[in-house]
Amino acid sequence: MSKKKAQGTNLLYQLIGEARNYDDVIIMGRGDPDFDTPAHIVAAAKNAMINHHADYSPPEGLLALREAIAERVKRVNNIDVDPATEVVVANGGQEALFLMVLAVLSPGDEMIVPEPNYNTYADSLAFAGGVKVEVQTYAENDFRADPADVAAAITDKSRALLLVSPNNPAASVISPPDMQAMLDIAISKDLMILADDIYDLFVYDDFEHVSPASLPGGKERALTLNALSKAYSMTGWRLGWIVGPADLMARVKELKAAISGGASIISQHAGIAALTGPQDAVEMMAEAYRRRRRLVLDALDAMGMKYGLPQGGQFVFADIGFTGMDSGEVAQRILTEQHVLAYPGSAFSKDRKDYLRMTFLQPEEQLIEGLERMKVAMRDMMAER
Ligand SMILES: Cc1ncc(COP(=O)(O)O)c(C=O)c1O
Repeated sequence: MSKKKAQGTNLLYQLIGEARNYDDVIIMGRGDPDFDTPAHIVAAAKNAMINHHADYSPPEGLLALREAIAERVKRVNNIDVDPATEVVVANGGQEALFLMVLAVLSPGDEMIVPEPNYNTYADSLAFAGGVKVEVQTYAENDFRADPADVAAAITDKSRALLLVSPNNPAASVISPPDMQAMLDIAISKDLMILADDIYDLFVYDDFEHVSPASLPGGKERALTLNALSKAYSMTGWRLGWIVGPADLMARVKELKAAISGGASIISQHAGIAALTGPQDAVEMMAEAYRRRRRLVLDALDAMGMKYGLPQGGQFVFADIGFTGMDSGEVAQRILTEQHVLAYPGSAFSKDRKDYLRMTFLQPEEQLIEGLERMKVAMRDMMAER
């Protein structure tokens, strides 16, 4: 019996499985930072284990953490929230995004989604019975989501607009004028905005991140997600949050209580230390990503690969259309022949078979080695044509 070819996320899992077999593998696509969680955060968790190990947290999270989150979103994002009623702590960004989608969308409702995008939004939308309405973005324009395209996608079933900035995998950042235009559209068409700010501390060159909830009229119609995973290298600690208007946050809190109750109290104490303690580790990591981004882009330029300029985030989404091959096939060959795993674009969107996602989440020497090996694999593939 012929084996059916894996596609989309299944293909990605298959490749990740194969990668585990190679001792010298370099995972160029990985989404988790390679740095250790800063020591003072680990120490706070140890302390919590000794002193608070048996406690349940309230479903919305510890007040001290919600206060720290309110202070952080004011300082970094210029969003004013009341920690008592407008903040809910979640088990990572992943649960936060599910809660946002479930709180806002009912069966049949449409959500406008600039593509490519973080693929579990589509999964959560399917669970909510919602419908994804795609607005395409392109590498030639550095994956800019055009507000005019968003406006043109609105129907009488539109309920929400998803704005992930910086974006995963496209690494685009929505400019302040575009963000204002997106909000104006949301206000005039009475749409909710689901804002994902998880990469807000990683913005490059002169690009600027703005949270839609910080703009006049934005807070009432935006739920904003963030997490400690990427910024503090805490992916496994599972801690994130949502902030938004009190009426909707009451619904988010109900959902959170029903689905999983409060987040781990150990992680929450660690989260308080992360948000209120020294921030130099965050700046050190951001600086490392800046250097690595330059290194990766220089290598891609040398290979003649096109890409949307990463304006923020931790990725580059590179065009491999010149190979004439599907990204799944290219990723498979690079992995099998050179033991380098770049994530195929088709795992993010069915229309992005011409792309590979690479990340900056490796030490520099690993990145250099991985890119060098990719170059060899690409050269071999091109030589066969
Ligand atoms: C855009 C975006 N949102 C949310 C998440 C989920 O974050 P977490 O790892 O905290 O669950 C990710 C993870 O990669 C992401 O890229």
